[in-house]
This record gives sequence, C-alpha cells and structure tokens, in this order.
Amino acid sequence: MFLVTTPIYYVNDEPHIGHFYTTLAADVLARYYRALGKEVFFLTGTDEHGLKMQKSAQERSLSPKELADKNSSIFKSLWDELGISYTRFIRTTEKDHIELVKEVFLKCKENGFIYKGEYSGWYCVGCEEFKPESELLEGNACPIHLKPCEYITEPTYFFKLTAFGDFLKDFLKSGAVMPAGRVNEILSFIKEGLKDLSVTRPRSRVSWGIPVPFDKEHTIYVWFDALFNYVSGLPSWPASLHLVGKDILRFHALYWPAFLKSVNLELPERIFAHGWWKVEGQKMSKSLGNVLKPMDLVKTWGLDEIRYFLLREIPFGEDGDISNEAILRRINAELSNGVGNLFSRVIGIAVKFGKTQISGVKDEYYCNKAEEFVKSYHSKMQDIDFYGALEEVMSFCAFLNKYIDTKAPWALKDEELISNVLYALLDGVSLVCSCLEPFMPNKMQKALSVIGLSAPIFSPCAKQSHRVFNQLTLFPRR
Ligand code: MSP
Repeated sequence: MFLVTTPIYYVNDEPHIGHFYTTLAADVLARYYRALGKEVFFLTGTDEHGLKMQKSAQERSLSPKELADKNSSIFKSLWDELGISYTRFIRTTEKDHIELVKEVFLKCKENGFIYKGEYSGWYCVGCEEFKPESELLEGNACPIHLKPCEYITEPTYFFKLTAFGDFLKDFLKSGAVMPAGRVNEILSFIKEGLKDLSVTRPRSRVSWGIPVPFDKEHTIYVWFDALFNYVSGLPSWPASLHLVGKDILRFHALYWPAFLKSVNLELPERIFAHGWWKVEGQKMSKSLGNVLKPMDLVKTWGLDEIRYFLLREIPFGEDGDISNEAILRRINAELSNGVGNLFSRVIGIAVKFGKTQISGVKDEYYCNKAEEFVKSYHSKMQDIDFYGALEEVMSFCAFLNKYIDTKAPWALKDEELISNVLYALLDGVSLVCSCLEPFMPNKMQKALSVIGLSAPIFSPCAKQSHRVFNQLTLFPRR
C-alpha cells in the first residue's frame, strides 16, 4: 500500500496557497498510484494544540476548541471543494490520537529518553519552537516570522536527542530524505552540536494540549503531539512518504526519526521537502496583504490549470514565484497550444475522415517512442519529479504534433494508411491524457471519455482499436 501524508495544518489561520501546494502534491501522487492499480492511503488533517492556538483563540474571545472546530472545518471543506482525494482527515484533538500520544510519551520515558530539567531560551510562538541563538536576527527576532522571540526559563522534560546523533546521520545519508541539497543543511545542523530537546511546556503557560501522563503540571510539546498523527492516522506504519515544506524539514528529518527510534518504531521510507512560493516576487505575508487563497486563483484560472501550473512552473523542491503573467504563459503555451491543440487536431482528423472506430497496423517507430516516453514518465513520477514528468509529457506532445506533420494524413488516399496514422495518434493522445490525469483529473477524465476510455492506461500500442466520440475544446486560449 502507498501511504502518503501531508503536514497537518495549524488552525489558527485560514488555508493559503502554501497549504494547497503540499496537499496538491500528495493528491497527484495518490491519484497516480491509484491509476497504477495500487492501494493508496492519503492522510491529511489539522494540528490543533499549542500556544499559538491558545493565543489566537484568546484574541478572538473563543475557546481553543471553538476556534479549532471552526478552522479545521474550513480546511476540510476547502479540500472537498477542490476535489482533494484524501482517505482520512485527522484532527489532533481526536480521542484516539490523544491516547496514542500519551502512550508513546510514557514509553519514551520508560525507555530512558525523557528526563526532567530546566530550560532557558528564545521561544518563537509562530514556529512553536525554541530558536538556537545563532539563528536569531537583530532584536532577537525569529528569522521566519521576523518577530521578537520571548526569553523563557522554566522547568521542562527533555528528550535525549543527543543519544541519536550517529543514528540520525546514517538516516540522513541513506537517501531517504530528499532533495539532497536540503539534507546537507540538516547535516550541518547536527555538526554544530545537537542539544537535548525540550518536549513539554508548563501547564500554567500552555494549557491547550495533551497532558504529560505522569505529570499533570506539564503539557506535551505540540510538535511531539503533531508528528505522531502519522502513526495514529495511518492504517499501518511506516509511511511510504511524508511530503513537507522546507521550513519544517528539521522536525521531520531530525526530531521525528529520533522520536520513532526512541519507542522502537520504524522510520518513514521517504521524506520530501518542497520549496516556498513567493507572490509577484514578494514573500507572502499578512502584513503585505498578499496572501493568496487557493479558491481565488481557482476562480480566475480554473482548478486543473492551477494544479498544472503549481507543479510545472518550478522543479519540486525549489522555490518559485506566482504571478498572473507566469500562469497565463503556461496555460497558453503548454495547455492550449500544446495539449489542447494536439487533442483537437487528432480528433479533427478522425472526424474529417469519418473514422470513429480505428484499428491499424502498429507503427514500430511510434510504439518505441511511446514506450520510451512512458518509461521516463514513470521514473520521474516515482522520483517525485513532477516538473520532469510534465516535461516528458510536453516533449511527447511535440513529437506527436511533428508526427502529424510528417505523416500528413490529409494528403493520403489509402484508407488503410490513414487508419494506421490515426491509430498511432489516438494511442499517443490516450497516453498523454492518462499521464496528465493525476495532475488535471477533471479535464483529463473528460478527454479520456471522448476517446472511449474510462480510466488512464499506460501501455503503448496495447489496445486493438481506438474510438472517437466528439470534438472537445480542453483549454481555450486566454
Ligand atoms: N502544523 C505544522 C506541521 C505539523 S506536521 C506534523 C505546520 N503547519 S502549517 O500550517 O504552518 O503548514 C505548513 C505547510 O505549509 C508546510 O509544508 C509549509 O512549507 C507550507 N507553506 C507555508 N507557506 C508556504 C509558501 N509560501 N509556499 C509553499 N509552501 C508553504 O507547519
């Protein structure tokens, strides 16, 4: 079974394009593996405890639970509206999850990895994290939130992270964490010297969270709580893949494997960290008023178009920039002129010759090209290289367009020759639409049904014949 997860999102705020990006990537992989006939479990949800939530609720004169209920349902309905094919939406306020967290926390202590001490340090509420002094900006500000951190001294329970240094280095060098460039950042963090990690907060300061099972004066650290959603939410463990943003890779590639090891659980098979989007060249922020909401973009450009853009504009793993010009460019150049044009050209030829049921002699040259294409596409998808997979699709579309030009079926007199060309073209188009289906499920399912397919197919030249129903404009030019 392919078990894929997204981070669980904080519910002190409403969903923006960054949340959609990680969720979309998981959705595309879930759809891809389902199309291959694999069983898939896709886990997403909301991270509802902690100081950030407690404070946000206070500011709004709500109880933390009221705020969590309200915002968690906003996330869930958004994913439903956007057709995200998750299997389970988990909330960290669910009873089963809370029980599991208490159980593992106790086990971790019994295994000798939790001890009591006192902590002093700079805390960023936005990150829900004590920041290493070396990372602070002027005025002791957090480098991510640009707001001053708070200096705190308090009793706490520590997790013996220092016991896991070599284990973590081995894990990071195993190739399980991608992309490689980001792994080096984490390795150098280890090199600077690991410190034990504070994993509880005094109840007097943070009351909104899971109580430490053996000391009611303390609350379990929200990241310890949240990370274990992957174990409580999946039907079996380990996960095949955690998708996360680069900002939270340290939690997933360092603390998480150590927590798991401390309670004798297996490690996730893969972790992939993607980059961040800017908006028209600027960091997205509330104060700049440029926070992009997924629904607004979808209303302007269409759901499949935005899904395509986000995974095509930059290689997954790198940072990118969203602008209306960039979206327009991709839609016109690749969706309208590339895929859409190829599709209507091929259907147009079939319709012109009155051929709706097409079988023909297989062109070996075409079949080889198609085999090569499908092979590279799969290898890119399995490497979580969406950009590369889409590049393969675009090159294959270009090949098919050239194939039409050189074969010039309109100039052929022989019925059989025309059928042979059309057979190859329809085979090619069905592969293109199938490979694009995980990315643009709505339009591609329509396109597939126009050529008589109810589901994606990935085997070139395997069908005896193809059928054509009617013409369809997939991506009108903007
Ligand atoms: N609650 C934690 C995750 C716990 S997982 C056990 C959290 N939540 S979050 O609401 O802040 O969402 C984080 C996700 O959104 C991350 O994957 C992050 O990278 C992503 N993004 C937030 N802003 C982003 C951009 N501007 N661009 C792309 N993704 C970004 O962290």
